[in-house]
Amino acid sequence: MTLLVWLVLAVGLVLGVAMFSWRTLSRMRALPCPPWLMWLLENPFARRRTYTPMLERLALSPGLHVLDVGCGYGRLSIPIARLVLPRGEVVGADIQEGMLWMARERAQKSGLANLTLRRAGAGEGLLEPGRYDRALMVTVLGEIPRQAEALQEVRNALKPGGFLSVTELLPDPHYQPVGTVRRLAHAAGFGELAYFGNVLGYTLNLERLPGS
Ligand SMILES: C[S@@+](CC[C@H](N)C(=O)[O-])C[C@H]1O[C@@H](n2cnc3c(N)ncnc32)[C@H](O)[C@@H]1O
Repeated sequence: MTLLVWLVLAVGLVLGVAMFSWRTLSRMRALPCPPWLMWLLENPFARRRTYTPMLERLALSPGLHVLDVGCGYGRLSIPIARLVLPRGEVVGADIQEGMLWMARERAQKSGLANLTLRRAGAGEGLLEPGRYDRALMVTVLGEIPRQAEALQEVRNALKPGGFLSVTELLPDPHYQPVGTVRRLAHAAGFGELAYFGNVLGYTLNLERLPGS
């Protein structure tokens, strides 16, 4: 084998070990995707594959109140805030100040007054109950060590009749298989509304079931 093939194999192995370790450690403590790695989601290929379908699957209309859990730098919060105008609002919540700082800059440039960005982690008890028509978690769930508590809180933040849209995409190292999301969602008081996509990238829409 040529030196080049060995080099490619070595780089692949190092990346594989790094991704596996990151994924495993994230089950124990929060190790979120840093802002400098967000180019993985913000490139023409990822945009075509995910961006438009994700927005369509949220079934947005003017006046809706939307919670973007793990909003990152506002990649989705900003277009959503436009789509719910007039009277609708978006709250973007994230645990990283660095992400929120970038999101605020982008929001300011966009001139949107109906987008609020706040430091709040799902599962920390900071989300207002019964306020939202929609919630979304896009490539976020796998970064949360206490997933059951996080989903329970997001469920309670929805209005009766509201729904949560969970999107998972490969090759995100924190990718959660649909079976895992279904099990967690069911335990947190969600019922399945719709499944879109395939194993490479899917969205699961989950309605808030009645009950405490
Ligand atoms: C891979 S990024 C995705 C960002 C955004 N959803 C998007 O698709 O552009 C995951 C984000 O989830 C955030 N995050 C991780 N755990 C969180 C939690 N418990 N509550 C809120 N945000 C969280 C991270 O800080 C990070 O910004």
